[in-house]
Amino acid sequence: ASYDMGGHDTYMHKEIHEQADAVDRVLRGRIDDRFSTVHLGGLNLDAREARQIRRVKILGCGTSYHAGMIGAQMIEELARIPADAEPASEFRYRNAVVDPDTLYIAVSQSGETYDVLAAVQELKRKGARVLGVVNVVGSAIAREADGGVYVHAGPEVCVVSTKCFTNTTVAFALLALHLGRTRDLSVRDGKRIIEGLRKLPAQITEMLEQEEHIKKLAEQYAEARSMLFIGRVRGYPVAREASLKLKEVSYIHAEAYPASELKHGPLALIEPALPTVAIVPDDDLLEKNRAALEEIKARSGRILAVAHQHQEKADETIVVPKNEDELDPILMGIPLQLLAYHTALALGRDIDKPRNLAKSVTVE
Ligand code: G6P
Repeated sequence: ASYDMGGHDTYMHKEIHEQADAVDRVLRGRIDDRFSTVHLGGLNLDAREARQIRRVKILGCGTSYHAGMIGAQMIEELARIPADAEPASEFRYRNAVVDPDTLYIAVSQSGETYDVLAAVQELKRKGARVLGVVNVVGSAIAREADGGVYVHAGPEVCVVSTKCFTNTTVAFALLALHLGRTRDLSVRDGKRIIEGLRKLPAQITEMLEQEEHIKKLAEQYAEARSMLFIGRVRGYPVAREASLKLKEVSYIHAEAYPASELKHGPLALIEPALPTVAIVPDDDLLEKNRAALEEIKARSGRILAVAHQHQEKADETIVVPKNEDELDPILMGIPLQLLAYHTALALGRDIDKPRNLAKSVTVE
């Protein structure tokens, strides 16, 4: 594919900068202010069926799996349905129990990833209901699913996914809101989430204005041989995705860990040469996260915080605009895309086509 680069040097850079428009697209025409919910035309799931769901299992690979982790938390928080995400390839080979009261959701940018498609086919063969959260319209996974939500990120060319990741998390917020409002989410909370969603495009633009600052940080961190990414609950999948992004595009080794698990192992690694990127949202875990920063500082670790307010214990902070707690992961991923991008640029990497990777993996 060759789409216009629109003055950008790489597709990755272009796609990062398309995110405000992309999020606008995934929201467009779907918000219903009268009932404080959203309409998802292709869901193919009526209210009675939605109320019968007892669990949600989300399947995907790579970045889509991480978007699914965020989606699972949103569904559990807003719709109060137990939900979790799992790599499609793992699910497929562990002879998982397929339960008729579980809603299965396959997540894929391309809609062609073999492991995801095969998991969908296996689920359908066993009579399960499967929805797709897919970007490419009419793709194999979209066709195979019983219904779903299109992500409308537009074409994504760079092998590493950026705008599609963001849009997928927004699509999950819409689905979680919809499921919540057919169940026990109040009108007031529905309104609150809708207001939060509407703020996203402008907040993304505001976030991207910090690119120069993030670029300078990336140039410093490019010297690291390895980096640790930490977060808790909402911040943890953000840390996972940021770590993947850095590995893929810069080839710097990175590992993501729940901040709460530091004391059970990774603290042994902390030294000045191993920087930590900490995701520190202004939610009810703020004090716990601050305590983790202190633990790292006490061992002379260098810290870059991605937070809603300046973090004293960190060496540097990237300040992200605050949204509703449940939607915060959507914005917190964006500066970390820029960090990965500028680190790779400083190291002279082949940004749009990292070695050994493919945009979509259509074979096993
Ligand atoms: C490949 C790509 C990743 C992507 C994953 C899943 O590994 O390099 O960027 O996240 O496939 O792709 P999908 O199209 O299913 O989202």
